[in-house]
Amino acid sequence: GKPRVWVSRPTFPDIVARLEPHFEVTAEPDERKFSPTELAARLSGQDAVIVGLKDHVGAAEVADATRLRIVANLAVGYDNLDLDALSAAGIAVSNTADVLNESVADYAWAMMLGVARRMNAAERWLRAGHWHATEFKGWLGMDVRGRTLGILGMGRIGQAIARRAGGFGMAVLYHNRSPLPEAEERACNARYVDKQQLLRESDFLMLVLPLTAQTRHAIGAPELAQMKPTAVLVNVARGGIVDDAALAAALREQRLAAAALDVFEGEPAVHPGLLELDNVLLSPHIASASHETRRAMTALAVDNVLALFGHGPHAGRPPNILNPHVLASAGPAIHP
Ligand code: GLV
Ligand code: GLV
Repeated sequence: GKPRVWVSRPTFPDIVARLEPHFEVTAEPDERKFSPTELAARLSGQDAVIVGLKDHVGAAEVADATRLRIVANLAVGYDNLDLDALSAAGIAVSNTADVLNESVADYAWAMMLGVARRMNAAERWLRAGHWHATEFKGWLGMDVRGRTLGILGMGRIGQAIARRAGGFGMAVLYHNRSPLPEAEERACNARYVDKQQLLRESDFLMLVLPLTAQTRHAIGAPELAQMKPTAVLVNVARGGIVDDAALAAALREQRLAAAALDVFEGEPAVHPGLLELDNVLLSPHIASASHETRRAMTALAVDNVLALFGHGPHAGRPPNILNPHVLASAGPAIHP
């Protein structure tokens, strides 16, 4: 029979339908979180799976999935997957790098401008019926023009964020494991600095780095203490990169002016100290959530699965494989 593919969450049926000529497709009709045992049961017997950030897949979840050849993640970040364990099991892993860069960069800017101009608190105030007269000195926010934007993590999303800064009259500093090649640095008009300098000099600090053992709490109490008390922190990357308890304390004690957060440690739970504050703009992990981009992410996951099995526009060359050595060492794909 045809190989089997499981899609762990509702996506776009017209895109998933492209699998149907080649696969037996099971797509979950509802959004839900699977326990490790439920995931293991669903993965067993599948040849390919398309999963999301809520699905944690590691050695235990694939122990019975003896036919599984690819886990396609519906996200650019893949801290929900144990890449080493999946590689050891001979399973290819793909992500959705690149197709979401511009949407996430737009959203990071929207959050930054929104919190700088206090849109979140002003909207709450209006909706609560407090608007009785217009005050000339009401709701004064911060201009971004002439200020310094700092970017921690200068991958492709960080560069897309930096490229937008010229239009807003901001200078850009960045820190990354290594500096960009000169041409790329020039293209985004950004200057490399060490992490200390980035923390000290940024008026707005945007986090755009993946969550790994090395980046966990990259922004904790010691880092927050180095930032200007007038600075604004924006996190569109991952919860866990910021120590949310330390951040809530810094904001409450006005050691930091404001924050805009799309991601949280332990989401969907949000640290209660953050929920109490008016100088924090919060959103439920939606930086890539535009119609166009969520469709493009689904199409890319589908293309990776199709390609691994020799079908579709990239037949034989899946475009976003994170562990290509697994493909190199795999035997020929034989499926009746
Ligand atoms: C979303 O958070 C992603 O990694 O794509
Ligand atoms: C983020 O930093 C990326 O390049 O995806």
